[in-house]
Amino acid sequence: MEATKVIIPVAGWGTRSLPATKNVPKEMLPVYKKPAVQYVVEEAIEADLNDVVFVTNQQKRIIEDHFDYNLSLEALLRRTGKEHLLRDVRQVAEMANIISVRQKEQLGLGHAVLCAREVVKQEPFAVMVGDDLMFSRSPAIKQLMEVAKTEHMPVVGVVEVPRERVSKYGIIQAEEFAPGLYRVRHVFEKPDPKDAPSRLAIVGRYVLTPEIFHYLENLEPGYDLEYQLTDALQALALDKRLLAVKLEGRRFDIGDWADYLSANIYFALKDEELKDELVERLGEFLTNKK
Ligand code: G1P
Repeated sequence: MEATKVIIPVAGWGTRSLPATKNVPKEMLPVYKKPAVQYVVEEAIEADLNDVVFVTNQQKRIIEDHFDYNLSLEALLRRTGKEHLLRDVRQVAEMANIISVRQKEQLGLGHAVLCAREVVKQEPFAVMVGDDLMFSRSPAIKQLMEVAKTEHMPVVGVVEVPRERVSKYGIIQAEEFAPGLYRVRHVFEKPDPKDAPSRLAIVGRYVLTPEIFHYLENLEPGYDLEYQLTDALQALALDKRLLAVKLEGRRFDIGDWADYLSANIYFALKDEELKDELVERLGEFLTNKK
């Protein structure tokens, strides 16, 4: 059975991006013309994950609203003849079936995934972190779904990061059994660089089966005293099997300012109408002319 549902946890505080995220969810920070989370949903849709389950909280209603109709705005755009903008805003509202689940307390990523248990029931499902953007020829989540389908096992996506950044991510210890494919032995949440077994960092892309819920239910508080998805994956890897796939593509962590700003420039440079002017301005900044 193939996954059709994707859980996108969006209930985190986004403290790394304060003060920008004091009242705006980090997933709604714009990356060029779209909020960050829209890129994540578009990646899911490209992989035929049409049921999008947001794990949300009271402050995040604006995310669900972004994927809904805004009838007064649409009426205005129609009245003023702005058909292309009307098409864009309609298309966002119609791209996915949105299902929302509340995470009533922010107890960690593992707890957030557990909150969606009643929605995914007995089916395999994907998890995509709402502030991790991945761009590749084949959508990152699809790369994982293909492996999950042929190997019949849960799969996490990894990318290689510089050693000084391993303490920001879940890091795997694993054996490569085919190019870019790993059998995971251990997973460590945000290890000290000197203790990290590799530089293979988990990105916010996972394809899981309902057996993970058993491990999530039995979690003890872990790193930062939160219920960590990483700890449930560790238990799963020890008891059963867990694979990792080295993802092809470019990754931007929206909670990291250098990544966030690079993502904006990356997309803006793809816009032919803006490109030349932007390159000129960037050149001015770099040569300190102004
Ligand atoms: C979470 C996971 C971590 C993973 C990261 C990817 O951390 O706990 O294992 O590497 O997402 O973005 P967070 O970014 O929520 O601190």
